[in-house]
Formats: sequence, structure tokens, C-alpha cells
Amino acid sequence: MWTKKNIGDQTGKTVIVTGANTGIGYETALALFEAGAHVVLACRSERNAQDAEARLLAQGGKGSLEIAILNLANLNAIGEFARAFIQKHKKLDILINNAGVMTPPASKTDDGFELQFGVNFLGHYALTGHLYPLLNATPGVDTPGSRVVTVSSMAYLRGVIDFDNLHSEHSYDAFREYAQSKLANVLFSVELQRRIEAAGDQVISVAAQPGANKTDLSRFMTEAEYNAAVDRIGALMEPWQGALPSLYAAVADDVQGGNFYSPDEPGGYRGYPAKLAIEPHGLDETVAKRLWDWAETESGIRYAG
Ligand SMILES: NC(=O)c1ccc[n+]([C@@H]2O[C@H](COP(=O)([O-])OP(=O)(O)OC[C@H]3O[C@@H](n4cnc5c(N)ncnc54)[C@H](OP(=O)(O)O)[C@@H]3O)[C@@H](O)[C@H]2O)c1
Repeated sequence: MWTKKNIGDQTGKTVIVTGANTGIGYETALALFEAGAHVVLACRSERNAQDAEARLLAQGGKGSLEIAILNLANLNAIGEFARAFIQKHKKLDILINNAGVMTPPASKTDDGFELQFGVNFLGHYALTGHLYPLLNATPGVDTPGSRVVTVSSMAYLRGVIDFDNLHSEHSYDAFREYAQSKLANVLFSVELQRRIEAAGDQVISVAAQPGANKTDLSRFMTEAEYNAAVDRIGALMEPWQGALPSLYAAVADDVQGGNFYSPDEPGGYRGYPAKLAIEPHGLDETVAKRLWDWAETESGIRYAG
């Protein structure tokens, strides 16, 4: 069983965790802070970020912390975050694309994309693209290359990329769009690894999913919807346990690019980190390339080595 006790010393590593103020992101940041990393809490609300930093400092860690404001629902703000980061930091060892929104009422990002697709997928596509040259220029501390960990969900199983409705032009179904965004996270993570290998770069791109956890992700569900989900899924884990697949993907020595890490019990809802086979629709190269081209065109961000 792999737990955070297995995380080796992370002193000297610089890490960004998006959505680090609560839930899985908070626990991911805590474990890396405890292990000695310099952890950048990339959060959209300054107040929530400061509150999280105070809680992390009270819990204690041998690393260091920094707050940076990042709104993934605004492509300009993502660019500003990345430019400020690159100006301040000479390296980036681990980028954890964790932030997410689930089943909100129909809404759009500042740039007009369906909110879940815009934040969960396109925002992280853009963030990773801005930071890619720095990731690629960062030599590994104890394993080769820097890492990009993109957090998905078992909801990806039900995802379909509807290229005609990515701005919610035609209709909105809250869970359908969440599942679509989480499939996009898997397609992105695998496609990034294909591109890294084609370019001969050292970066590692992996996906992770936390299973079913008690977090604020359910904030848009009614009590009845929440109870029905728990009846279907079973007991929810505490977020420290849900953070383990992201942490494993971020630091374990045997991690390989293109893989997907998940809690190991059947269904992927509970357990300890293990590699999970990706279903064929998550490995579909044609859809992944079309999605990448779409993201490149819509965001104007082209990855450079
Ligand atoms: N919890 C689960 O059972 C579960 C299951 C499968 C997958 N996941 C995935 O795990 C990841 C973390 O979710 P969680 O459960 O920890 O949820 P959470 O407690 O709701 O945390 C989500 C984080 O994302 C941030 N966020 C939302 N919109 C943002 C935006 N526009 N810009 C920047 N940050 C934004 C939130 O900031 P605010 O606090 O300011 O809103 C918060 O920090 C997500 O990708 C989610 O899809 C979770």
C-alpha cells in the first residue's frame, strides 16, 4: 500500500498545485510541503489562498509556500499567472493540474467556453502550454525530467467530446459536460506524452484520479443528488487519501508517461494508488489530436519546447 509516508524528500523541487486551497489540492500541497518542496498554491481567491496557507503552516512542513492567484476561467489571467511565475522562478519540477468545477448551473468562462470544459480542460491546456518551456528546461532532481500531473475522474468513462457544443451553443447537461471535461483531461494527458516523446523531451505527462472523496466538489449538488450519489458509489474517502494518486504520479520512481493512476479498488472509487488501464476512448489518437488542434486554435497557445 503506497501512502504519503512513501514520498521521499522533495527538498529542492518547485511545485505548482492548482486549486490548492481545499479538497484534493490542499492535501496534495500539504504532503509535498511536508516532504520539503517549495509549493506554489495557485488559487483563484486570494482570501481562500491565504486561509489555506495559514492552515498549511499550522500543520507544518519542512518545505516552503507561496501564493499565486490563478483564475482558470480566464485565458488572459492564465497568461499573466504564467508570465509572473516564469519571471520569478528558474525551474518547475512538478505541475499538478488539479483545480476543477463539477455540475454548476449553465455558465461560461470569461472567454465564452462552457465553464467545466473551459476550467477543467482548456484552462489547464493553456497553463501547461505557457509553462512548458520552463518544465522542459528543468532537469530532474532524482528522476529524469519534470512532471505534469492532470487530475481527471472516473466520470471520464461516460465522456464524449462534442466538438459542436464546446461553447454550450446547443444545449447544456451539467453531468454530461463534467464527464466531457474529464475525458478531455485524459486525452490531453496522453496526447501531451505523445508529443513529448515525438520531440525527444524529458518531461513526463501523467493523469491521476482521486476516487470518491468528501470535498467541496459537490457544492452544486442538491442534498438529494448527493445522497443518491453516495448510495450508488458507497462510502466516500477523506481527501488525504484521494490525494494519493496525484502524489504517486508526481513523485514515485516507477511512474511512466502516458499512464493513469487511481485508487486500486474495483470501480476506482476507493483504495490506494495503482496504475489503471485507460479505456480505448481515452486513448483515441484521432480525437486527441482534434482536441489539441481545437485548443490550440481557440486559446492561441501553441506548445514550444
Ligand atoms: N472529490 C472527488 O470525489 C473527486 C472525484 C473525481 C475527480 N475529482 C477531481 O479532483 C480535482 C479536485 O477536486 P476536489 O474534489 O478537491 O474539489 P474542490 O474541493 O471543489 O476543489 C476544487 C478546487 O478548484 C478550484 N477552482 C474551481 N474553479 C476554478 C477556477 N476557475 N480557477 C482556479 N481554480 C478553480 C477551487 O477554488 P475555490 O475553492 O475558490 O472554488 C478549489 O480550489 C478536480 O479536478 C475534480 O474534478 C474529485
